[in-house]
Amino acid sequence: MKKSFLLLIALCVTALATHAQTNTYALVPKPTHLEARSGSYTLPAKPTIAVQAADPEISRIARMLADQLAKATGSAPVVTTGKASGGISFVSAKGPKLGAEGYTLTVSPKQIVITAEQPKGFFYGVQSLMQLMPAAVFSPTKVSGVAWTVPACTIEDQPRYGYRGSMLDVGRYFYPVAFIKKYIDLLAVHKMNTFHWHLTEDQGWRIEIKKYPKLTEVSSIRPKTMVGHYRDKVYDNKPYGGFYTQDEVRDVVKYAQERFVTVIPEIEMPGHSVAVLAAYPELGSNPDKTLTPSPTWGVHDDVLFPREETFTFLENVLTEVMALFPSQYIHIGGDECPKTQWKQSKFCQALMKEKGLKDEHELQSYFIQRIDKFVTSKGRRIIGWDEILEGGLSPNATVMSWRGINGGIAAARQNHDVIMTPTTYCYLDYYQADPKTQPVTIGGLLPIEKVYSFNPSVTDSLTAEQSKHVLGVQANVWSEYMPTTHSVEYMAYPRLIAVAETGWTPQDARNIDDFKQRLETHKKRLDFLKVNYFGAPINNTFQYVWPKETAKK
Ligand code: ACM
Repeated sequence: MKKSFLLLIALCVTALATHAQTNTYALVPKPTHLEARSGSYTLPAKPTIAVQAADPEISRIARMLADQLAKATGSAPVVTTGKASGGISFVSAKGPKLGAEGYTLTVSPKQIVITAEQPKGFFYGVQSLMQLMPAAVFSPTKVSGVAWTVPACTIEDQPRYGYRGSMLDVGRYFYPVAFIKKYIDLLAVHKMNTFHWHLTEDQGWRIEIKKYPKLTEVSSIRPKTMVGHYRDKVYDNKPYGGFYTQDEVRDVVKYAQERFVTVIPEIEMPGHSVAVLAAYPELGSNPDKTLTPSPTWGVHDDVLFPREETFTFLENVLTEVMALFPSQYIHIGGDECPKTQWKQSKFCQALMKEKGLKDEHELQSYFIQRIDKFVTSKGRRIIGWDEILEGGLSPNATVMSWRGINGGIAAARQNHDVIMTPTTYCYLDYYQADPKTQPVTIGGLLPIEKVYSFNPSVTDSLTAEQSKHVLGVQANVWSEYMPTTHSVEYMAYPRLIAVAETGWTPQDARNIDDFKQRLETHKKRLDFLKVNYFGAPINNTFQYVWPKETAKK
């Protein structure tokens, strides 16, 4: 009896110690290797950050860390160049071992050392270091009474996938630049490296194009907006609009670059283009047709026609877009393009005959191939949603697999690169809890456990060589039911962190219970970052109230 009682106590102590350790090292995403050590480092009254290499980019990252430490702790670290003993050091490592994004982080009671081969690695080392500190380190203002300690450990870390992204739809609702920057900040905190900016939609065109001013004068403003459930067909009868100027776009791209986030613009074609046709109806079925940017969500029959004028327009638009976005990839949409009008059009049918195209899917493929050729000729590459597989995949296209993972498998089998973003795991516009307890969303049900359970690797269906074409994973935030920045955060977080870990952490190191435990600690960081995640204490519930003056169409 006595023996078993002692055993019980021993078990409890072990469990508590394990729990404490998990919380002490509650990093998200979980690092590839983390070894706990005893003791901790305490930030001195005058911290130093020494950057070994005289590299302006690495020094800039050190200053970013110093600036945040200064804000939260109230004492500004001194950033120096050269070797140092003690304090925080950034030491350049000779590769190739850690890779472009990898780093090591060693914390002992005497010093903290981050090593990396490239600036991006140092940036991610800093993100991990911040997460090892008390959550208050994320505070924008000084927090008193905190013991600024870092638990001793050795971390060696690098990502599972090179592409870790999130798409935000600003076509259905428009969010200000300040919020886009915050969205990017949060991606960087979670070691995500791609922001896919969905800039054009049936309901609104959101980017200034100098050659086509009507895109912002006409296409960016819809006369009214659907509210509540789609089936109710209720509208608010208020014009709604917004767009980003080219200066704002440049500012966002630079801001993202400083945080090692690549911004991929998406210009939708040939579908989801009602807003374009409202300004330039000659690019569609009928130059005399009067349209407005759509007040209604969904898939629309009015699409771009494969005319020479349309290609000239798109090439001009893409020329301005490529001048603004240095990303290797340009997303050209390609999803949900009904073929109704093309089937009824004499022009389209004659074109199909002339080009020897057997159906309208091949006509869409012809459309995408024309754009692929143009984008490729400028040294860039297109990404398209998985519908671009239909009718034949364009030679240089990368595929975003959204209708499940089969499109991704099919593309990888054709030796095309793939990004996995299936609705079944990655659509953060779906409900995250019992719909009865939630604001209206587009539908579905995707609790965080389901999101976390996604394994983008499809090694069962692909050869080892084909598997290499799976570049990574992406969370999509479609905004039909996210009228405010508040609602975007509510839907995206914390589920987006599950996607971040899916993209970063080796599959065999992932465990949902362990993740959820780390997430509880991480939520305190999100509180300091003022994120309105689902379950957040700051605003707790989704605050948006539908306008009272709704009216039936
Ligand atoms: C999509 O969700 N229509 C790509």
